[in-house]
Amino acid sequence: MTVKEIFETMDYGPAPESSKEALAWLASKGDFGHFIGGAWTAPGTLFAVMNPATDTLLAQVTQGTQADVDAAVKAARKAQPAWAKDGHARAKVLYALARILQKQSRLFAVLETLDNGKPIRESRDIDVPQAVRHFYYHAGMAQIMADELPDRQALGVCGQVIPWNFPLLMLAWKIAPALAMGNTVVLKPAEWTPLTALLFADICNQAGVPPGVVNIVTGDGEVGEMIVTADVDKVAFTGSTGVGRRIRELTAGTGKALSLELGGKGPYIVFEDADIDSAVEGVVDAIWFNQGQVCCAGSRLLVQEGIADVFYTKLKARMSGLRIGDPLDKCIDIGAIVHPRQQARIRDMLAAHPEGETFQTTAPSGCYFPPTLITGLAPASPLMQQEIFGPVLVATTFRTPVEAVEIANSTRYGLAASVWSENINLALDVAPKLVAGIVWVNGTNMMDAAAGFGGVRESGFGREGGWEGLTGYTKPVAAPAKTRSIAAHTGDGGAGGLDRTAKLYIGGKQARPDSGYSRAVYGPKGALLGHTSLASRKDLRNAVEACNAAKGWAKSSGHLRAQILYYMAENLSARATEFATRLKSLTGSDGTAEVEASISRLFSAAAWADKYDGQVHDVPIRGVALAMKEPVGTIGILCPDDAPLLGLISAMAPAIAMGNRVILAASQPFPLIATDLYQVLDTSDLPGGVVNILTGDHSDLADPMARHMDIDAVWAFADPALAKGIEVAAAGNLKRTWCGALDWSRDNTKAILPHATEVKNIWIPYGA
Ligand code: NAI
Repeated sequence: MTVKEIFETMDYGPAPESSKEALAWLASKGDFGHFIGGAWTAPGTLFAVMNPATDTLLAQVTQGTQADVDAAVKAARKAQPAWAKDGHARAKVLYALARILQKQSRLFAVLETLDNGKPIRESRDIDVPQAVRHFYYHAGMAQIMADELPDRQALGVCGQVIPWNFPLLMLAWKIAPALAMGNTVVLKPAEWTPLTALLFADICNQAGVPPGVVNIVTGDGEVGEMIVTADVDKVAFTGSTGVGRRIRELTAGTGKALSLELGGKGPYIVFEDADIDSAVEGVVDAIWFNQGQVCCAGSRLLVQEGIADVFYTKLKARMSGLRIGDPLDKCIDIGAIVHPRQQARIRDMLAAHPEGETFQTTAPSGCYFPPTLITGLAPASPLMQQEIFGPVLVATTFRTPVEAVEIANSTRYGLAASVWSENINLALDVAPKLVAGIVWVNGTNMMDAAAGFGGVRESGFGREGGWEGLTGYTKPVAAPAKTRSIAAHTGDGGAGGLDRTAKLYIGGKQARPDSGYSRAVYGPKGALLGHTSLASRKDLRNAVEACNAAKGWAKSSGHLRAQILYYMAENLSARATEFATRLKSLTGSDGTAEVEASISRLFSAAAWADKYDGQVHDVPIRGVALAMKEPVGTIGILCPDDAPLLGLISAMAPAIAMGNRVILAASQPFPLIATDLYQVLDTSDLPGGVVNILTGDHSDLADPMARHMDIDAVWAFADPALAKGIEVAAAGNLKRTWCGALDWSRDNTKAILPHATEVKNIWIPYGA
């Protein structure tokens, strides 16, 4: 027999990983309680945790109650002050966690595969090593926090709710940075996959994690909701966009910090000059990794028309070679779907939309789903728009790079994207144009603790990992300022004279309010100072249109933006006396210092316009991740009542310095200082539509601002009573909100910049 004949006749020989140790650990534990205050609670009402690959029972786990959640939060609260004190002590504990995880990596990998159904190859080579890496990386962050983040401190207690697709890895992403920054946590794993979190609880005690620093409560979405509404300082969630939206509503107005990592429908763009074989192999990692149950999956294939046929042919051949079956078999490419309910969701979704041409390989019976490719879909087809969260790749073609970008950006999500081209100019031209938090060039699904992970639009907000991920687990050391709501001065209507009704400022022009209504503005002694327009929903819509038309501002250089900000400062300075006098007439206080401080703020923003650089993250693959700072988009700002000029300029200037367009609702009691600013803006070379100013009642503008789908963020420095409504309404398109207060007498420009930017991590090959 020749070697060739041996190869051709050889039967497939499975290489199963033993589950003995993992099952023995489960048996040794019996029924699980929660892990609270460093100890196990007695098991309560139990639910079954199944192995999806075999439909057999793995363990019985406790459904949490309100009392359990309260006890966990109490333990976390008690442990937090001591935990926050010593960065080196935290670093030692995080390092110990990394080491023990590493030592027990095989046990964790097998347990993960049993619980989730993912191939052992993935849990062994990706999930567990990445979790280990997260603890190492953040041990370092704990060590250097005091030196590198001297003006930041822990938030307190973090409530964390995680999904079932990467049970241990998501735990690591949540717990490592939280602990590193001095927070304590109450974490709930997903009800389908709680086991590695429970094993992790076990090693917390071995690693010397002080009691109460890590608390694990198990249960379903109801328990998740109890954590979200408990007395925690921050909520961190990864999961579906629907639940993310609900959490946004539940936390509205509470002042809790919030980060949401939600769904995605990642475009996987293959240009005709791509290395086709590599790109085909990339697809395997993009959509068949973890059975496609990955929020950043490359689930939407966009392939350039000229190579579509050859690409599909090669892809189908590769799909036919994928081995699907027992996840514990080390040769398996595709394992089980996490749960029969998820399997049914995938099946139902395809059945509901019988579109395009389907190519499917086969799968064993049970909780498996065959690799599927659906070609010939229109970009607007529901299968191209909605997250399937299974091993289903949907595809369409494009003709030009412009069209590719247009299709890529045409979903409500914005998590990750993949670009394949051998032409570096093309790849790096397209990457910044993609609306996504992560872009991989000639790669896919790469993640690392050093690079921030997270999205924009309905993929959520906040980043996990990297320096940028630490913002979400810290707050400023400085005591928070208080927002002051100030009543307007009143008068008796005043004497006649020339009517002076200040208009609105939209698209670089003065515009009458749609309602036609205006209001008299009086000085502190009741003198009539003029009239101000009352803006409504319609005027806000016009302002948004103006912002949309001024999109080019985002692409202008920092140097240009700086020059314009300096020019604004110069023009304000030329009229300083006039503005100071106006301030005095409005507020009764001398306005000289406020005008001077405003000029200084314009200088600060100009200074930062070309200096708020991105970073190059050192990720341990043959590449680097460029963490680029991009503008958020259109920001609606409710300006503070007090400091009517300084507050407006302090918020506006950093926003436009970073390339955003803004809609400013001027100080409600003292609006005329904002309307005086129109001429300064007009004479400063600022393109029309970059700054729009509305006057009127904040309570009329807050809701439409927060609801508008084309506004990307709302900052509210006005009446704190509006915060709740704003945050509830913002759940619509999951825009970022910042309902806060700043001490306007201080220069907060640098602290505002992270709010004015999104970090996009662009992974590029380097030294490969
Ligand atoms: P899910 O969003 O319901 O579950 C994620 C986590 O949230 C679980 O721990 C769950 O117990 C918890 N949860 C559920 N309702 C909650 C609530 N009201 N308050 C607080 N916590 C709550 O995800 P599910 O139902 O398991 O999957 C549905 C779809 O969501 C999937 O088909 C997929 O499209 C998407 N998904 C996205 C993930 C991602 O990483 N972006 C992860 C998991 C699911």
